Amino acid sequence: TGFTTLDYGFVNTAATKSSITYIDGDEGILRYRGYPIGELASGKTFLEVAYLLIYGELPTAEQHADFDQRIRRHTLLHEDLRRFFDSLPRDAHPMSALSSAVSALSTYYEDDHDPHDPESVELQTVRLLAKLPVIAAYAHKKSIGQSFLYPDNSLSFVENYLQLNFGLQSEPYEMNPTMVRALEQLLILHADHEQNASTSTVRLVGSTEANLFASVSAGIHALSGPLHGGANEAVLQMLRGIRDSGEGVQRFVERVKRKEKGVRLMGFGHRVYKNYDPRAKIVKEAADDVLQALGVQDELLDIAKELEQVALQDEYFIERKLYPNVDFYTGVIYKAMGFPERMFTVLFAIGRLPGWIAHWREMIADPQTKIGRPQQLYVGPTERHLP
Ligand code: CMC
Repeated sequence: TGFTTLDYGFVNTAATKSSITYIDGDEGILRYRGYPIGELASGKTFLEVAYLLIYGELPTAEQHADFDQRIRRHTLLHEDLRRFFDSLPRDAHPMSALSSAVSALSTYYEDDHDPHDPESVELQTVRLLAKLPVIAAYAHKKSIGQSFLYPDNSLSFVENYLQLNFGLQSEPYEMNPTMVRALEQLLILHADHEQNASTSTVRLVGSTEANLFASVSAGIHALSGPLHGGANEAVLQMLRGIRDSGEGVQRFVERVKRKEKGVRLMGFGHRVYKNYDPRAKIVKEAADDVLQALGVQDELLDIAKELEQVALQDEYFIERKLYPNVDFYTGVIYKAMGFPERMFTVLFAIGRLPGWIAHWREMIADPQTKIGRPQQLYVGPTERHLP
């Protein structure tokens, strides 16, 4: 149309309408389909919230039972896909393994990936929800050299994941209800966040009518970066760095403020929240409770709290409205649960999956959807010719 606005990072440009998630960044409000995040996190299961995001309403008891059963029926991976992990290097990052295996999933279901066939979309939805935790657990087992377990469909979604992840073939896995509930809550907190980078990626890829597996695989890669979901792993590395170097919180914060190359306060700041991230508030409270219930003491939690306190009183952070985000305290909890750092972002991906699916489906169903195709301002040479 002859008029192009330059908007690095899409700070001001909406690419779609959406009725899934509402955020008020100034007030620190987050709601899924109208329900405040705090209510959902304390009173619902992850699958109920997944249903809410994808279908728009909380499930009735009957709908919930049906959804849960359908997911349980699809947990098994094709044996060849199980063996797919053999071809990856032992030290593959679990996020790369996760994305690769989800991408490979599309090769198993090529006959029914039509984005405009509702039955096929429904099947892909259930398959992905059922199989991602299994793939995630195998990515973990692969990285520690342990054999893979088969899913146990008598277990709930979260229980199954924990058993696949921590269980051993040689001994029964003892379920810890504190861990189950805490993980359920953390997954809910991550389940959607409107047009973040990975969701926007899923939508952009999906706008070409590529299938759901391909779109989600791309979303997982987008999530892996340290400025996005990868921040939870980066926070732990930062906290360990502060502890091991002995430099102290104050000196570290000074380096952040001097903008030393590569030094940011990870787990702080957000494009949308200019007030406390409501998820971070819930996670911070959970961190104390979970560590206590699991009988774990971790000096990294003390360092995190000190860091938060110092930053919140400092002009640099006040001026720029930088507060802890969801990733600041999650790593400490995952660590207490026994997850290695490289698995933290994988947990984020499992949590975010219902959001990605909900957005992909909303986009496919929206008659206004067009292929995503940003503009540019060309700043290269004007016309020139070969000598
Ligand atoms: N530490 C130090 N300074 C920061 C930080 C930080 N974590 N975040 C922003 N700033 C400064 C930035 O240097 C800039 O300063 P100045 O105005 O002097 O140039 C100002 O604050 C504005 O920052 P920005 O980079 O323009 O903000 P953005 O909206 O583009 O970036 C962000 C948002 C989340 C990428 C960024 O805050 C950041 O890098 N945070 C650390 C990584 C992180 O925790 N990411 C997780 C985000 S929440 C969950 C998720 O999406 O996965």
